[in-house]
Order: sequence, then C-alpha cells, then structure tokens
Amino acid sequence: RNVQALAAVAAGELTGDAIERYIQPDIDADAVIPAHSDEVPVIDLGRLTDAESVEAETAKLRFACEEWGFFQLVNHGVPDEIILAIRRDIEKFFQLPLDVKNAYAQRQGDLQGYGQAFILSHDQKLDWADMFGLYTQPPQARDMSFWPSQPPMFRNSIEEYSSKLMKLARSVATFIAKTLDIDPELVADKIVVQYVRMNYYPPCTLMPEKVLGFSPHSDGSFLTILLEIISVQGLQIRRHGAWIPVKPLANALLVNVGDLLEIMTNGKYKSIEHRVTINAHKERLSISAFHVPKYDGIVSPLLGTTEEKVLYKTTKVEEYSRLYLSKKLDGKRAQDHAKLSQ
Ligand code: SIN
Ligand code: FE2
Repeated sequence: RNVQALAAVAAGELTGDAIERYIQPDIDADAVIPAHSDEVPVIDLGRLTDAESVEAETAKLRFACEEWGFFQLVNHGVPDEIILAIRRDIEKFFQLPLDVKNAYAQRQGDLQGYGQAFILSHDQKLDWADMFGLYTQPPQARDMSFWPSQPPMFRNSIEEYSSKLMKLARSVATFIAKTLDIDPELVADKIVVQYVRMNYYPPCTLMPEKVLGFSPHSDGSFLTILLEIISVQGLQIRRHGAWIPVKPLANALLVNVGDLLEIMTNGKYKSIEHRVTINAHKERLSISAFHVPKYDGIVSPLLGTTEEKVLYKTTKVEEYSRLYLSKKLDGKRAQDHAKLSQ
C-alpha cells in the first residue's frame, strides 16, 4: 500500500471504493474552534538561560506543560543550516520514485523503514499518510541498511539533526525538571533513545474531510519534538473537548509531553491527544523525534511532597512500548494502562 501513489491517481478516476479503507466513520470536524481564540504557548529557550528572565520563562514553561502539554520552542539553538538540510533532504526523499523508496521498505513488525505504521488488522481504518522511520540515537541503535543513500546528503543531514535534537531534548528536560523542583539529572537521564518518523501526507482531492493523516493518539514517548517540513495546517490537538489547529511558527520546534513523562510527573503534565487532518490540494511533510528512556528501564511517579498521592503505576519502558505498538492508535494510553484506579 502507498498513499502517495493512491493520491496521484487523477481525481476523476479515483473512486470511493479505492479509498474505502481510509474513510473514517466519525471525524468530528465540527468541534474545531478557531486558532486565534486559544494558542499554544511559545517558550523562548534563550530566556530560560538568561538570569534576568529565567524565573518568568520557567513559570511560562510550567503553565505550558500543565495546561497544554504542548509548546512551541523558539530560539532553540538548532542551526538554520541543519534545519534547511533536513528539510531539503526529506522533501527530496519523498519525491523519489516508489521503487527507490521501497528499497528501504519496512519489514513486518519493524518500526524502521518506508511504509505505513500501525497496521494491525485487515479491517481497521488506515491513515492517509506514508512514513519513514529510523532509530537514530544512541548511534549503536542504528540499522544503517535503512539509511537511504539518496538524496546524497541525507544520511549526514539526519545524523546532524538527530544529534542536535537529542541534546536539545535533554536540555528541555532539565528545564521541565526545574518547573517541578525535581533533580534535573533524573529527568534528563530518561532521554536515551531517539526514533524519528518522517510523515508524508498527500492531498486527498476526493474526500479530504473524510480521511485523517494521523488518527487521534497521545505519544508513547517521554518527550516529542516536531518539525514541519512543508508547513500546511493539519495538526490539531484535543483541548477542552475540541480539536484546536496548531500552526507552528516559522522558526519554532513543537514540543509535547509524552505518556512516559505524564507517568513520571504523576499526571501533573499530561500527554495530550492529537491528530492530523488532510488538505484537498496541498501535501504536508513533518518529522517527529520521539525521545524515550532506555528500553530496560522503568518510569515511576516522582512526587513533589510526601502528601501527594501516587496516581500512576511504576511502568517498565519495554512493556509500555510493546503495549503501545500492539494496538491501533486510539486516543490516550497512559491513562488506561498506568493510571491506578481511585
Ligand atoms: C505526530 O503525531 O507525530 C505527527 C504530527 C504531525 O505530522 O504534525
Ligand atoms: Fe504524535
């Protein structure tokens, strides 16, 4: 299956039958409220390292994590050349002929390579997207047979983007720790593995309002950092029962709390459900970097005070990841699997 190829069929020839598996029964498109009434907080990393502004910016970060679970990070220090290179190469990669991309085809049960994610049954609804996944950190987790030799600089641009993002994720984790008054090392230490997922969302001319590029889900990671490669409105986050469109600022990275950070904060910071809608005429491209603790480790709630009640189970990272991947994307998981009943 390939959505890019499907989307390339002339609209007049494409039938409802051909895309039947992609038609979602109940997209509540009506619940979307306009972006301008409510916007994802913007955090300035420079202000978190400046003695003059650190207190105010830390308060803003606390608010963003507590009230949104998402924030736009500006002044993040990832050099423009690195962003430009990864943008250029991801765009070029998805433009390659199908047979060239298929040389890196995902194997059954593997998260790496080119294909579609989370296809677990023959009758489930499918997302209107193609993806390309790689383990990028630590370096020994890489399977170089999946790293494309085209476009020519791709391996290099992935490596550079990946290592900068890994450092950034650790640094963001230490600032998040400060908002909670917990030992920064304890939080930064949870960022060990990085998996990147490049998402290609073709336009859907026939029935854009009936398909989804990414079904509603919360991330199974600890901390996720997203970069839009081709910026077209598509990402929406669930907030107060409505779907809110997120429009990343030109120079921002979008950071979100993952399920494992929710568990570690004992639910003070929640991993928020999000989804991707599809445009009728424009393609969209993004890269998500998922930062995860070491596979054989555990995550347990860190409590602020002795009076605080434990709300989540101590969770094995390996077990949680396996569980996460064994099910079709379907809303929130941390809640269902790690939350202790009251
Ligand atoms: C994701 O949920 O990782 C994809 C988000 C996006 O493409 O904006
Ligand atoms: Fe996600």
